[in-house]
Amino acid sequence: HAGARLPQDLAGKKVLITAGGTHEHIDPVRFIGNSSSGRQGFALGEIAAQRGAHVTIVAGNTAELSTPAGAETVPVVSTQDMFDAVQERAGESDFIVMAAAVADFTPASQATSKLKKGSDSDEDALSTISLVENPDILATTVKRREAGELDSNPVIVGFAAETGDEHTTALEYARKKLQKKGCDLLMCNEVGMGKVFGQKHNEGWILDAHGGVVDVEHGSKIEVAAQIWDAALAYREV
Ligand code: CTP
Ligand code: CA
Repeated sequence: HAGARLPQDLAGKKVLITAGGTHEHIDPVRFIGNSSSGRQGFALGEIAAQRGAHVTIVAGNTAELSTPAGAETVPVVSTQDMFDAVQERAGESDFIVMAAAVADFTPASQATSKLKKGSDSDEDALSTISLVENPDILATTVKRREAGELDSNPVIVGFAAETGDEHTTALEYARKKLQKKGCDLLMCNEVGMGKVFGQKHNEGWILDAHGGVVDVEHGSKIEVAAQIWDAALAYREV
């Protein structure tokens, strides 16, 4: 895509993206995390900037990705940090896309110095970690919009990685998740068996709150990002 100028259909729009995985620290050297690379979120930022948007990426841990040209990154560590950074900016964003892999739980307490294996007092803290649920960034943002707290009335896009089982397909789980979260669009990929997480390609479906669904063919994360922006712009227009 280098050199080819894309349509400026996001010109002047403010776009907020979450990307990467959050880290929930147990002590200064240990954390609970996941293997999200942040690539899909950064690809969304790259394409949005090329289509004329002002882009802010709230970035958790990523695979040493460089900031896309024309975008600003806000580095965060934990889910709470990401929550704060998003809520601070949500009311001025036209589009919010939550591509981050967010840790659902965090340790109930965080040690300020490294826990020591073999120390009676630290042994328990390392072998049994009490967890508390993290705030839901996506659901909270939707609720704030419904309450009229977000002046910019953003289009809100979520992500979901789902597996099917013997009762329900991944696509049906995605439909339920879209309804539960209350967002406008949900990009769903089916995972398991080495698929997608941390890979350079993606595929799946984009579901919308009116019941629509479009197939996203297997392609690079840049190609998938372009389709997500097409869907978000189309949603804004209806
Ligand atoms: N998400 C979020 N804050 C959280 C958890 C998830 O903003 N605390 C966002 C993710 O960035 C993603 C969407 O919500 O855009 C769906 O994430 P997912 O983990 O699939 O949803 P959960 O409600 O956590 O459901 P599950 O039990 O399947 O993990
Ligand atoms: Ca989750």
